[in-house]
Amino acid sequence: MKNSYNRLLEGNKKWSEQKLKEDPDYFKGLTLGQSPEYLWIGCSDSRVPANEITGTKSGEIFVHRNIANMVVHTDMNLLSVLYYAVEVLHVKHIILCGHYGCGGVIAAMSNKDNGFVNNWLRNIKEVYEKNKAELEAISDIKQRENRLVELNVIAQVKNLGKTRIVQRAWKRGELQVHGWVYGFNNGLITDLNVMMDEIDDLEPIFRYDL
Ligand code: CO
Repeated sequence: MKNSYNRLLEGNKKWSEQKLKEDPDYFKGLTLGQSPEYLWIGCSDSRVPANEITGTKSGEIFVHRNIANMVVHTDMNLLSVLYYAVEVLHVKHIILCGHYGCGGVIAAMSNKDNGFVNNWLRNIKEVYEKNKAELEAISDIKQRENRLVELNVIAQVKNLGKTRIVQRAWKRGELQVHGWVYGFNNGLITDLNVMMDEIDDLEPIFRYDL
């Protein structure tokens, strides 16, 4: 237990050797820069690694993860990643990926005190309140959680659309925003088909005159 972190360094050595065996120029390619087509906004949950579950390699996905895959319009970290991905890397797709069994969503559905994290989860409580009638009509608690996971993804996709960064990219016809949910019961991703690619997909009050 004391030196369990060494396992990671040893794992890295083996991985590096394996990569070089497969392709002697593998790391040379990575040093030349990155031009990923996708920005992934996902949950910090250790069971939802973006590259692994999509069968992609280093260099293919620009990644931002936080508790419960939230898009909070005052979050400088998220906004910086979003700005850089869209304006500099010119990603073609943003994938907002939630996951069933999300601890953040489940905690937000309860009255449990999670200390400092209450502030972050508060945003999901707003999603709950907005969709209270639909959610409370679902008697099975597991199904209700799953539905809130989906509704939260949809809300965060819309939050992306509410940013000037995304609206400017839409105007240039360069960007699509997608909402997905991953299930670690079967390892499969479901596309919620909430794709947004133009300002008309957004409630009028949130549209900027650009
Ligand atoms: Co989660």
